Amino acid sequence: MRNHMITLGEYIVKKQAEYPSATGELSSLLSSIRRAAKVVNREINRAGLVSDIIGGSSGSENVQGEVQQKLDVFANDRFKAALEARGEVCGIASEEEDDFVAFDSENHSNAKYVVLMDPLDGSSNIDVNVSVGTIFSIYRRISEPGQPVTLEDFLQPGINQIAAGYVVYGSSTMLVYTTGHGVHGFTYDPSLGSFCLSHENIRIPEEGTIYSINEGNYIKFPDGVKKYLKYCQEKDDASKRPYTSRYIGSLVSDFHRNMLKGGIYIYPSGTSAPNGKLRLLYECNPLAFLAEQAGGKASDGFRRIMEIKPTSLHQRTPYFIGSTRMVDKAEEFMAQYS
Ligand code: AHG
Ligand code: MN
Ligand code: MN
Ligand code: MN
Repeated sequence: MRNHMITLGEYIVKKQAEYPSATGELSSLLSSIRRAAKVVNREINRAGLVSDIIGGSSGSENVQGEVQQKLDVFANDRFKAALEARGEVCGIASEEEDDFVAFDSENHSNAKYVVLMDPLDGSSNIDVNVSVGTIFSIYRRISEPGQPVTLEDFLQPGINQIAAGYVVYGSSTMLVYTTGHGVHGFTYDPSLGSFCLSHENIRIPEEGTIYSINEGNYIKFPDGVKKYLKYCQEKDDASKRPYTSRYIGSLVSDFHRNMLKGGIYIYPSGTSAPNGKLRLLYECNPLAFLAEQAGGKASDGFRRIMEIKPTSLHQRTPYFIGSTRMVDKAEEFMAQYS
């Protein structure tokens, strides 16, 4: 046990000194996300106790046609307020907002960053006490400071990301992020009220033996995915097959496990979901940035996720992410059978 755990705040400042390009604003932006994560974490941890207040459905639907859980709305409002409270962000886009939200007060118009987020990922799991998460993605705005924020500021390809990260509210709560200099994980210590460095320079194993997919949709999968799943299930000692199937139903939790142990997460296209279910801008791109920074890979089965040019805020994409060798193999089947 190290005698002094480095907190996330200390680490951000330390890294800022090492990378002059990482401006003070980005550090301050990450700190506002850190603060909001603590508040959301507290509410999630007591959801079961005050289920009438923050458990269950809010009775409204989001633009995706999903029933919004009260915690979806709570998390969205907390992160939006935290990002608006400072002066680094000129606008946000969110799974829970129909359109982007411009922070157009006086001291925001010169702000240089936009943030896209999935404030609560895996929200169908809240009422059954299974891990959920938050996903965020940070870009420099394209529009000129002082000018109004535009949709173009949010429709940037993932390769333009300045930073990305997630919070996983699990058996312990962790915040994992990258600013393009590796992936670093911080575990929340409630007794200190701080996120402390616990996983510096996370590297995803190049090969893995865990595959994560909702096999209930099997009959709707493309043939390439069906063939890959059979490959995962065949016996072959040399490649440690059959692999293990693990599906939590929270993207952040399935992704986090694969980052630490190796594995592949697939949400493919299906007959009822021609582009799959996951959203490119605030689920697929941020996790793709993290995966690549940790030595992994993320594609839509054919091309690199982060090179897709977005055309709408809530567009979906088929998603293959995790250990590079596993994604490579899945892409081989997609190329051969599609
Ligand atoms: P969200 O709760 O933000 O809408 O995301 C849910 C996503 C993802 O977290 C999870 O892996 C996937 O939906 C589960 O989808 P299925 O229930 O269709 O498997
Ligand atoms: Mn949702
Ligand atoms: Mn999600
Ligand atoms: Mn969500």
